[in-house]
Amino acid sequence: MTSFAVLASGTGSNFEAIADAVQSGRLAAKLVGVVSDVPDAGVLAKARLRGITTAVVPREKDRAAHDRKILQALDALPGGRPRFLVLAGYMRVMTSTLIQAFRADRYSRIVNIHPSLLPAFPGVAGYAQAYAHGAKIAGVTVHLVDEGLDSGPICAQGAFSISECESVHEVEDLGKELEHRLYPETLSWILPEKFKLEERETASVRRLCVRPI
Ligand code: GAR
Repeated sequence: MTSFAVLASGTGSNFEAIADAVQSGRLAAKLVGVVSDVPDAGVLAKARLRGITTAVVPREKDRAAHDRKILQALDALPGGRPRFLVLAGYMRVMTSTLIQAFRADRYSRIVNIHPSLLPAFPGVAGYAQAYAHGAKIAGVTVHLVDEGLDSGPICAQGAFSISECESVHEVEDLGKELEHRLYPETLSWILPEKFKLEERETASVRRLCVRPI
């Protein structure tokens, strides 16, 4: 079974959805640990309650040095460095130190969930950006991580109507509900690497796309 660790900065609701999927057998992979860059992140307490190994690597200014320490923490997990790294609300841009450490042939074995229909609204607060723009549809993207900002190959997306929403909180609630279904389901074919990469090229864009096989 593919091993993976979760890297997270926040409350950890996606971590819980993923851990539940592992526990129930819907996600046939081995969750070997949770690493956080925020010492009091809710995700750490949630992981400890489940008896999952945790590690904290507090943020520091030098992002490459920080990423080297994260790598050391991952190497120290039971079984050593996991095959995949799953970002679940990790709020820092990665340097190539980490990305290259998980490099496969044409992609990196790092997966992220982002709260927008990429390539719209990369960066922080995807749901708030969609709401503030008066967008009628918001969404969620699961993608492989590359050196750019939320720019890696897209694995899966889901969308929902926000035209009736009266606050960003309503958008976030709908979005989280979708994330908790979409992320474990997508990981169930990404982690065993049951996908292929396809290069698509048009006049203005040349991109790698992920397709399940
Ligand atoms: C989620 O909405 C996730 O999409 C977002 O952080 C939240 C984490 O929630 N991720 C990003 O914005 C990544 N750039 P959680 O801690 O409850 O899983």
